[in-house]
Amino acid sequence: MNLFTSSSYSIEVGSILDSSLNELLLKTYSNSKVIIIVDENTHDFCLEYLLTSFDSLKEAEVMLLPVGEENKVMEVCFQVWQALTDYQVERKDLVINLGGGVVTDMGGFIASIYKRGVDFIHIPTSLLGMVDASIGGKVGIDLGPYKNQLGVFSHPKKIYIDTIFLGTLPEEELLNGYAEMIKHALINNKAQWDHLKSISSIGQLKNESMILESIKVKFEIVQNDPLEKGERKKLNFGHTIGHAIEGFFIDTSPVSHGHAVAIGMLAEAYVSLKKGLLKSDEYYDIELLLTSKFPMIQLEEEAIKEILQIAQHDKKNESGKILCVLLNEIGECSIDIEIQHKEIADALFYLNKFAISLN
Ligand SMILES: NC(=O)c1ccc[n+]([C@@H]2O[C@H](COP(=O)([O-])OP(=O)(O)OC[C@H]3O[C@@H](n4cnc5c(N)ncnc54)[C@H](O)[C@@H]3O)[C@@H](O)[C@H]2O)c1
Repeated sequence: MNLFTSSSYSIEVGSILDSSLNELLLKTYSNSKVIIIVDENTHDFCLEYLLTSFDSLKEAEVMLLPVGEENKVMEVCFQVWQALTDYQVERKDLVINLGGGVVTDMGGFIASIYKRGVDFIHIPTSLLGMVDASIGGKVGIDLGPYKNQLGVFSHPKKIYIDTIFLGTLPEEELLNGYAEMIKHALINNKAQWDHLKSISSIGQLKNESMILESIKVKFEIVQNDPLEKGERKKLNFGHTIGHAIEGFFIDTSPVSHGHAVAIGMLAEAYVSLKKGLLKSDEYYDIELLLTSKFPMIQLEEEAIKEILQIAQHDKKNESGKILCVLLNEIGECSIDIEIQHKEIADALFYLNKFAISLN
């Protein structure tokens, strides 16, 4: 079992059967109700394993969320808060979020707000959830096209990361996790970039050692700057443009988070190149990997205008300026760099040459 421990929570990576979960349920939560939040897929693919592995979960109440980012919204939270109230959930009780980033973001938010906070545990089941979304204490939901506009910092008591759940994860979802792993490498770790770009199959990403490498980057950055005053902003690389693209498509033809981040990273790498920060050989290395793994999306002028408007509302902006993370080199970046609408538009027009149309 690999352990990452901070003052308020810990992450255990390895078989959940060998983890501290059983003891925790028997000792700390023996007199508590346990609520397991799942989405439709983790209900079908992951829940049974958990319920059959832990006797103390036999009585747990299961709450089912509709699948997908378009459901990471307040209306769904209201329904769950009502259900928790009907089920007379109290402060001493426990919520377990079993799912990808949507379930851990929204389930963590629901638990943190309900009665000013009940304890919760994350059991991420997607690769993206394991390497990124479940770690760092950001929980929240979207507001229209604005990603994670509502939320709080609130850590789970525990995060249990067991790659057994990846057995049922579709390949395109592995790719979404790959995007965030690439982000960790690009901002922080050139050696990790070399590992990631040389994988021979996407299935290799399920390898625990690769996952651990990525968790380490996220965990350490969050440890150094839990409330995102400085260094943690690095983790937003690719997200200024990526979130705006994800938000733009959310009601029409949703683009998954990892895919949007991959496009956002390439666009922001292009801005880094044009600003003279990133050398061209490194830029083309990034372009080669990202365009070979993630389809770029054809964006017409009107779409780019709307994407710019959404980017203008990004949480990282200050005084109306769009502030972005840009790359200095592979494995090193700078935060809070102001970028102009034209620079984003130029990048997105450039990426059109690799693009597919979503219509
Ligand atoms: N809080 C953070 O720090 C943070 C960081 C990165 C991303 N996020 C958020 O994470 C979300 C994206 O996470 P995601 O990519 O996991 O999306 P997701 O939760 O929608 O999961 C992707 C898909 O995989 C399915 N799935 C999950 N586990 C499965 C399994 N084991 N077997 C079969 N199907 C499974 C889900 O039902 C869903 O259809 C976004 O909302 C993003 O904003 C949050």
